[in-house]
Amino acid sequence: MSKQQYQTPRGTRDVLPADQPYWRFIRNTSEKTLEGVGFSKIELPHFENAEIFTRGLGEQTDVVQKEMYLLEKRGEDETIQYSLRPEGTAGLVRSFIQNGMSSWSQPVRLFYEGAMFRRERPQKGRYREFYQIGAEIFGDESAQADYLIIMSAWEILNRLGLKNLTVYANSIGCPKCRPKYMAKLKKYYKDHLKDLCPDCQRRYETNPLRLLDCKEEKCKIIAKNAPTTLDSLCSDCKSHFQSTLEYLDYFNIKYDLDPLLVRGLDYYTNTVFEIVEKNDRGRQSTLVGGGRYNGLVELLGGPATPAVGYSLGMDRIVNLLKEQEINVPKIEGVEICILQLGEKAKEVSKEIFDALSKQDINVYFVPSDEGLRQQIRTAVKLGAKYAAIIGQQEALKDEIILRDLSASSQEIFPTKVLIEEIKKRLSKCSRP
Ligand code: HAM
Repeated sequence: MSKQQYQTPRGTRDVLPADQPYWRFIRNTSEKTLEGVGFSKIELPHFENAEIFTRGLGEQTDVVQKEMYLLEKRGEDETIQYSLRPEGTAGLVRSFIQNGMSSWSQPVRLFYEGAMFRRERPQKGRYREFYQIGAEIFGDESAQADYLIIMSAWEILNRLGLKNLTVYANSIGCPKCRPKYMAKLKKYYKDHLKDLCPDCQRRYETNPLRLLDCKEEKCKIIAKNAPTTLDSLCSDCKSHFQSTLEYLDYFNIKYDLDPLLVRGLDYYTNTVFEIVEKNDRGRQSTLVGGGRYNGLVELLGGPATPAVGYSLGMDRIVNLLKEQEINVPKIEGVEICILQLGEKAKEVSKEIFDALSKQDINVYFVPSDEGLRQQIRTAVKLGAKYAAIIGQQEALKDEIILRDLSASSQEIFPTKVLIEEIKKRLSKCSRP
């Protein structure tokens, strides 16, 4: 019988050790940047009641219509339909309400990180299991919050060293000005209905705002001359968006206004934005998407609470770090191995191991009876920079041989100065 070779499901992949430095670099940089401007981390479940998404993201969105992974109803969960999370915002809003965060000191600034699941057609940069880092501010309707959100995403990408980035921004108004705009939009599209793709003909009835960002060439041409949301904003929305842009100008964050940017989820109000990488070949990859969603907390059963946020796509950022050949910090790994020969040396080695570990030095020590040559081979394989070699003679004389494994040179030190010497050498050659 031939053996079955199992594969990862379509649109998912293993993140192998060789790629871990990229993921860690993104995680560490994002956490440091976000914690540095007042955000705290929160962890959320990977599956939630599906209604959070159907109501929150909108019944007619592609994510809800085509892309959610619904779980089987069974046993005690028979009455509730669960779904793997297709995004993080709606789940965080559920958590905001459930944990009574409206009584916390406002604004509440939170970030999360983890896998999201959408049944999309996989291609480069688009996966069925993908990873996001998201940041959200609750309880602050000021333009400063919009600025802080855009700035922190921009700052993360800059600290990662990414180039060729553009911020696209738009405002899609509020429940006060949106209905008037929708009427204008439908009026414009009425005459073009027969020229639209079948999806857009459906959208005309179900979700007209999405007519603006259809990727079909013939629909793009029609969208170009459609009335813009910016021309229909009420005075509050206009001045809020104006202030957001002034903050971006003041802090020198370059942006382009994109009147066709409406985003794919229904919860957005006011500011929407994306950060996109554009290379010489004109290819675009959207790294970050976000905006305001002032109605979502209330829609999901909480008190009226303004909110704004974004998610950045870690998978696409990993791809871009590689494409732009950006050096990412290496994972430190083993810094020093203790190699020993003889009983007395084993005893001393344990003491040295404890002393080095206490200094936060990555030390590998597995007492073995192998010969020195074999032990050195193991240390080199582990990628250690140094070996501390203790033979019977050194153990008796309270000395240690410190061997630089890449230079193949070595020196003898009294045991008591060894730690200082190693600390000195490690900070000199590897620690940033
Ligand atoms: P989104 O635009 O659906 O927004 O996703 C945000 C980012 O996640 C995208 O710009 C992209 O980088 C990445 N992404 C989305 N889908 C995939 C996929 N199938 N494969 C790889 N990467 C993907 C949201 O998810 C909103 N929750 C953002 C938000 C937060 N708005 C307000 N707060």
